[in-house]
Amino acid sequence: MSKTFFVKTYGCAQNTADSERIKAHYHQLGFTQTQNWKKADTVIINTCIVRESAENRAYGFLNKVDQFRSSSTPQIVVTGCLVGSAIRQKNKKGVSKLKKLKEKFPSVDKFLPIEKINFNIAPLRDKKESALIPISSGCNNFCSYCIVPFARGPEISRPFDQIISESKKAIKKGFDHLTLVGQNVNSYGSDLVKKSETYILPSGQKVKPVLVKSMGRARIPTLFPYLLDTVANLPGTKLVSFVSSNPWDFSDRLIETMAKNPNINRLLHLPIQSGDDQILKKMNRGYTVQEYINLVKKIRKAVPKIKISTDILIGFPGEDEKSFQNTLDLCQKIGFHKAYLNKYSPRSGTISKKLYQDKIPQKEKRRRWQILDQLINRPSSKN
Ligand code: 5AD
Ligand code: SF4
Repeated sequence: MSKTFFVKTYGCAQNTADSERIKAHYHQLGFTQTQNWKKADTVIINTCIVRESAENRAYGFLNKVDQFRSSSTPQIVVTGCLVGSAIRQKNKKGVSKLKKLKEKFPSVDKFLPIEKINFNIAPLRDKKESALIPISSGCNNFCSYCIVPFARGPEISRPFDQIISESKKAIKKGFDHLTLVGQNVNSYGSDLVKKSETYILPSGQKVKPVLVKSMGRARIPTLFPYLLDTVANLPGTKLVSFVSSNPWDFSDRLIETMAKNPNINRLLHLPIQSGDDQILKKMNRGYTVQEYINLVKKIRKAVPKIKISTDILIGFPGEDEKSFQNTLDLCQKIGFHKAYLNKYSPRSGTISKKLYQDKIPQKEKRRRWQILDQLINRPSSKN
């Protein structure tokens, strides 16, 4: 009988997409998947460390598996952002934090860097409603609160033709909804082409990279509008979504691409994080509230039916009644369709943890969370 594996996934769409490749990898090694971790020979935990609560959930599960096992079965494999950040971060003596992690969790048999699992392995998809297609990994933005650039390293774009061929395969398998996934999809291709170069698309068409305005950030060339357009025009694509898309690289060309392709999702995720300029500055987000509003206006003018969802970080250091009120005012002005509300959690290695104290009590963060949730996610009538 073949050996079995079980994968537990925490975190974002990128982690879910990674897990589909991890599953394919174990499948190739001759394992079969089980949905019951107690019956697995190998349990793989794909971790998220974006907030302490997510990190703790992974530790909780790890302990549960460890307490359950009688001998060395199941084998425990830990992967994801916990491992990535331990490899990339060093302590004051210059030693990688991986050693510390190994000491902290002696029951773990293997710490698997996610980079060992190739982009190009055909995924074992669980999600039936939409095929997740990773287009890049990592992030160059260093928002001051965020561990992702440390956990996943610099942004690396997947080759254009690989993305197209995986999209075609997914369509052939019956998926009519494709979701392009990256930490910051709008900057896709900035490492594949130089500003002044011509890029040849897989179709043979020669294009100039789109130079995005980049609110407060370096001006970079991107190929994302071309990629999105190509995927939207593959025969059989009924719906294309993309996550996440940040305000600073949102080019006019991208807006035009959305407008001309009705099969691009009319629900756009556009994280704002805060509605206060001073807080946005401390977060190193690059844009002002007015720039965000202008961008939304421009998108709505070109794509009238668009609905916008967002991420909001609650209780970032320095967020007082006034700055919180500014966030409420902005939310009212924009009329978000949905908001993912995250209470600030200081993360080791990030700038905000080094510079600012996390002084806002949990109770107050919870109060602000409820007010925003009520305002955006539970209004009595929704259009
Ligand atoms: N604390 C709380 N939420 C965070 N996020 C990122 N870092 C943190 C943190 N330190 C949230 C942001 C981001 C989402 C993926 O997670 O809102 O958009
Ligand atoms: Fe984190 Fe900012 Fe990168 Fe998003 S864009 S992953 S919030 S650093």
